[in-house]
Amino acid sequence: MKKIKRPEDLRSYRWFGVDDMRSFGHRSRMRGVGYDAGDWDGKPVIGIINTWSDINPCHTHLRARAESVKRGVLQAGGFPLELPAISLAETFMKPTTMLYRNMLAMETEELLRCQPIDGAILLGGCDKTTPALIMGATSMGIPMIYVPAGPMLRGNWRGEFLGSGSDVWKYWTEKRAGNINEQEWNEIEGGIARSFGTCMVMGTAATMMAIAEALGLSLPGASSIPAPDSNHPRMCEVAGRRIVDMVWEDLTPDKILTAAAFDNAIKVHMAMGGSTNAIIHVVAMARRAGVPVDMERFDQLSRQVPVLANVRPSGKYLMEDFFYAGGLRALMQNLRELLDLSCLTVTGKTVGENIEGAKVYLEEVIHSLNDPVYAEGATAVLKGNLAPNGCVIKPAAADPRFLKHRGKAIAFEDYNHMMREIDRDDLDVTSDHILVLKNAGPKGGPGMPEWGMLPIPKRLLGQGVRDMIRISDGRMSGTSYGACILHVAPESFVGGPLALVKTGDEIEIDVDKRSIHLHVSDAELAKRKAAWKAPAPKYPRGYGAMFSEHIGQADQGCDFDFLQGNAKIPEPEIH
Ligand code: FES
Repeated sequence: MKKIKRPEDLRSYRWFGVDDMRSFGHRSRMRGVGYDAGDWDGKPVIGIINTWSDINPCHTHLRARAESVKRGVLQAGGFPLELPAISLAETFMKPTTMLYRNMLAMETEELLRCQPIDGAILLGGCDKTTPALIMGATSMGIPMIYVPAGPMLRGNWRGEFLGSGSDVWKYWTEKRAGNINEQEWNEIEGGIARSFGTCMVMGTAATMMAIAEALGLSLPGASSIPAPDSNHPRMCEVAGRRIVDMVWEDLTPDKILTAAAFDNAIKVHMAMGGSTNAIIHVVAMARRAGVPVDMERFDQLSRQVPVLANVRPSGKYLMEDFFYAGGLRALMQNLRELLDLSCLTVTGKTVGENIEGAKVYLEEVIHSLNDPVYAEGATAVLKGNLAPNGCVIKPAAADPRFLKHRGKAIAFEDYNHMMREIDRDDLDVTSDHILVLKNAGPKGGPGMPEWGMLPIPKRLLGQGVRDMIRISDGRMSGTSYGACILHVAPESFVGGPLALVKTGDEIEIDVDKRSIHLHVSDAELAKRKAAWKAPAPKYPRGYGAMFSEHIGQADQGCDFDFLQGNAKIPEPEIH
């Protein structure tokens, strides 16, 4: 460890170390709960941001894990303090956790700023939690380690492995088609979630935990450890020890979060076959770090990097298998020649040093560059008159016949309209039709709910159809699959071209050419635009109103306008 800071340089010294009336108050109140000078004198204070909550099964173990972190902090001579933060439980929060990602980002930043914290451990994992914690801690700028919650064990039903989300969609579709009975459905409900931890397919949680590690913000291998595995608390303890050293080394996130680090993360995302949601989050995180990543960069890198992880929903296996196959270090080893190995990480070592000696143990789960699961990357960005600022598709998870397709639109004005129509027996629909959902975007949802995997109309289910093109300005769960075109920007709620689509219009997709075109003349579109009326805002007051006023579009990462950038905020005055 190269010690750069002296005890009097610590932020916390201003609260505990000086001789004035306010620091008397800080010390006396700490003594009042049983701590004493030996706890804080000359020691880095480590804030453990904990997103544990009774209602978040993905984070059930984080209370215990905070204790493991504390043990590590104490061993290394630090003073750990646990700071609870809002828990974004993907399964329970409505209308969508995305409405609250920026709230947790703000909370993280301000919890660290307004209190005597020198370094941070970020405990989270469920979908939006990871980007939120990283966005906030990046903006705060003190040393931090992101500790991933880890995936749950794989599901089990009648000898079959079940994957979170992906198999819910799959068997729900079969139930709607009449192929699954109540007894079987009930058994699946009891077998699909066998432990605490995050979803165990390559959904948004697994994708974002891997991205955090690839960025250099987690200990090597941390993101692949299943939540109930005993490696997990041991990893937490090491993180607790390491963050204390990072404070003395003054290893701040700006030294880690470079343009090259973000390229590494995007390449890992592609090789993992990661969730489309990652595009929004990585753009937002990068902008907080002052790195101008955009959707184009995703598209460029997606053409260079094949999918190597054979994990659902694009592949066959689950995150538990991925861990046994060698985990993220092994995947990055296989990707070695495409990565910038010189990037610095929280270990104080480079990416290259961190993955040294990593091996793939199950080649069926983690493929090599010579034998990829899918030749091109996980995500393609399309542009055209229907999405002037872009939209995304996950080609690996779609029926290949839809990657070049022209068909007639069936347009739904909003989610409720879609639900009223989709299962009508007289719906005029074939698998060549294109389902279009409006008002599911950042302002329209609001919060860009995961409605983008529109259900296949019941009429088609009976004919055996399981995929068709669906277009929306919403997102889809990372556990979802199919020919779903998402994140259309600008969104329909603000008058983007998606708002102008009518049933019967023809839409053409060409994923190879990265194009999406609405075959309606400019003159007709101008006429429709003139007749278009902006919908009324959905929230008359409160957080929702603030959200609607300040939220950015999908291609900009959906950050609030006033949170963007990396301008320095002064330390709080203590008087
Ligand atoms: Fe928490 Fe999927 S519900 S990660």
